[in-house]
Amino acid sequence: MGEHDRIRRVAERLRSAKCVAVMTGAGVSAESRIPTFRDAMTGLWASFDPQKLATPEAFDADPETVSRWYDFRREKCLEAIPNPGHEAITTMQQRLASQGGQLHVLTQNVDGLHQRAGSTGVVELHGSIMRWRCTKTGARITDLPIPLPTYPMPSASGGLLRPDVVWFGETLPEDALQAAFDAARSCDLFFSVGTSSMVYPAAGFAHLASKHGAMLVEVNPQRTELSMFADVVLTGPSGQVLPEVVRAAFGHTSE
Ligand code: OAD
Repeated sequence: MGEHDRIRRVAERLRSAKCVAVMTGAGVSAESRIPTFRDAMTGLWASFDPQKLATPEAFDADPETVSRWYDFRREKCLEAIPNPGHEAITTMQQRLASQGGQLHVLTQNVDGLHQRAGSTGVVELHGSIMRWRCTKTGARITDLPIPLPTYPMPSASGGLLRPDVVWFGETLPEDALQAAFDAARSCDLFFSVGTSSMVYPAAGFAHLASKHGAMLVEVNPQRTELSMFADVVLTGPSGQVLPEVVRAAFGHTSE
């Protein structure tokens, strides 16, 4: 089966789907030039080890440096713009909604680009770099100025503000996990887009969906650990492949 036929097969399922889940990873933002963990370690930050900045222990030991690093990355994310891959996911969501179905966006990314592309109800499994959270009360704060006025930033209740992201060694937010489980169990089509599918539990949702009868579609320029389990592998950058899927299913790429 050629790439064209594979896209047609996915498009047919998409057209008749009642419930779709799309799991995304860093790859969906690659064409928006969001620096990955490693890419972010340039210039000022070249001598730091990301694994040592993205842990609760690192924040306890040196909240100033960790806050500065996250603020730098927050700025990079805000400068980036959503790409045609993000936009295609939003178009799919809107099309599904208009015919009484639903599409759940489940993301491991913290960059906020799905929301900025217009997707709604985005499930953020690893939190968001756009939000900060009080170390004392857990209260979440968005819309803080860039740069922050001071590092680290004190919270109103006498704690500190930490990035509202999931660090190495921390558990994923319960509500996001539950939403992802529900979506994986009930969808009839599951896309795994731009993720190496190596980090659990996020990678497990594709298997769960497949076990419950969903068609499993992978979109990635490279093979991953999930490829051999996928019903259809669409090889290429998501900014090209997803708009093609939308075109094949609905005849255009944007609302
Ligand atoms: P990875 O960096 O592990 O994988 C990115 C994937 O994107 C790879 O499989 C690439 O082949 C693929 N890719 C690259 N360019 C692409 C493009 N234009 N279109 C589609 N795919 C492309 O990123 P994640 O799988 O997201 O966790 O990693 C998951 C988690 O591991 C991250 O959220 C982070 C990290 O440790 C935490 O921060 C908790």
